[in-house]
Amino acid sequence: MIKDELKNLIAENRACIGVIGLGYVGLPLIVEFALKGFPTVGFEVDQKKVDELNKGNSHIVDVPSEKVQKSLDTEKFHATTDFAELAKCDVIIICVPTPLRKTKDPDMSYILAAGEQITKYARRGQLVILESTTYPGTTDEVLQPMIEEAGLKLDDDFLLAFSPERVDPGNPQFQTHNITKVVGGVGKDSTEVSALLYSKIVDNVHAVSSARVAEACKLWENTFRAINIGMANEMAKVCNALGIDTWEVVRAAATKPFGFMPFYPGPGIGGHCIPLDPHYLSWKARQHGFDSQFISLAEQVNSGMPKYVVKLVSDALNGERKAMNGSRVLILGVAYKKDIDDMRESPALSVIDLLRSKGAEVVYHDPFVPEVHFDHAYTIGAGDPLFNSELTDDLIKSSDCVIICTEHTDVDYPRVLELAPLVVDTRNALSETLRDGSKAKVVRL
Ligand SMILES: NC(=O)c1ccc[n+]([C@@H]2O[C@H](COP(=O)([O-])OP(=O)(O)OC[C@H]3O[C@@H](n4cnc5c(N)ncnc54)[C@H](O)[C@@H]3O)[C@@H](O)[C@H]2O)c1
Repeated sequence: MIKDELKNLIAENRACIGVIGLGYVGLPLIVEFALKGFPTVGFEVDQKKVDELNKGNSHIVDVPSEKVQKSLDTEKFHATTDFAELAKCDVIIICVPTPLRKTKDPDMSYILAAGEQITKYARRGQLVILESTTYPGTTDEVLQPMIEEAGLKLDDDFLLAFSPERVDPGNPQFQTHNITKVVGGVGKDSTEVSALLYSKIVDNVHAVSSARVAEACKLWENTFRAINIGMANEMAKVCNALGIDTWEVVRAAATKPFGFMPFYPGPGIGGHCIPLDPHYLSWKARQHGFDSQFISLAEQVNSGMPKYVVKLVSDALNGERKAMNGSRVLILGVAYKKDIDDMRESPALSVIDLLRSKGAEVVYHDPFVPEVHFDHAYTIGAGDPLFNSELTDDLIKSSDCVIICTEHTDVDYPRVLELAPLVVDTRNALSETLRDGSKAKVVRL
């Protein structure tokens, strides 16, 4: 039986693991398997990434180059653009992007492209696992028929499962090995073999009854975050209107030992997951005649935050008898969250765009991001790229307003408070103790 053949290969660390897509999700995963002694092959469409990885250079912050080099040294890992090598893989894990179309519908083109390659090189005896976040039904409605096109039969010839990725880039406490892995197969054999596979690299595996449950689980988790951040953003606006310190309120509420989990407001949501994933769920729900109102509302509140931040800036400048038009604004932090370089869907992009559309002169400092590009500028001509500025005393002093969009650790906030005339802090980076006796006027969300 194919189940037993694969179980033997996995148990003895002999199964060849192919990972398609070597980004934030695929690279940490393949390195874990390689360092556990499994032969691995990384498949990428980006030749530059392949060349650098084969030289031992990582492009992902959470995977140090030494780890890639170590994997190369064991001769258990190499990257390639040649998908013909899929034929030698016993396990194929898909970690390609799942973005949205302009219409906010799921863009399945990357999964379909990976599926086509798998179909082309499929052979009896393979386990295919999808890790890309997607709507419930993708694994059995989309991938299964594609693999069957190769003349193979589920359970007899191949196994198929979904296992969501939960990696949190930049989080040193939780990395691949200590984040419980949920797995759901299209059928019992697929679940069993996938669970065995992941138990080789993670401490805990949680098996569920189907791929659809595993797909829905991931979307539930991220929708939970999007909605709760939406609520925190709404509460920040309420507190602001009432003249109450939002951050002090959350801090106090978080002392409740049960029934409350703190979420924090900010300039909006970013990254490849939280702003996108709920749309995969609402899209699928709509096809079944159900309209998810919570998801729509959270989207509305969260996507409105950059405008709200720009209004805070405009009001603060007005208080100084300054117009937005012609003011010099320094943005601190443009990545979507602290201490990483990921710019995908970063709300700072919208903030900068809106500021420039109102005539502000915008510069930014971000130790992780050397340049920023604007593909969807609100105003024609305002989409010129920006380049990281060094955080000099002159830069801070000459700004009419400093906006903290991302609270990177490695920024000298006391110096900012000492030299800036006006600061809009969207992340509570300037704690009360820092602000004590500071000369700068500080406005917070
Ligand atoms: N980044 C995260 O924190 C995170 C967390 C959990 C889940 N996810 C999900 O995991 C999936 C991958 O996300 P990511 O952040 O790793 O994306 P990424 O953009 O960092 O990496 C994807 C990689 O796939 C490559 N690629 C694209 N098409 C390909 C193809 N046909 N064949 C081979 N390679 C291809 C790209 O060049 C890129 O290197 C998405 O579905 C995402 O929603 C991401």
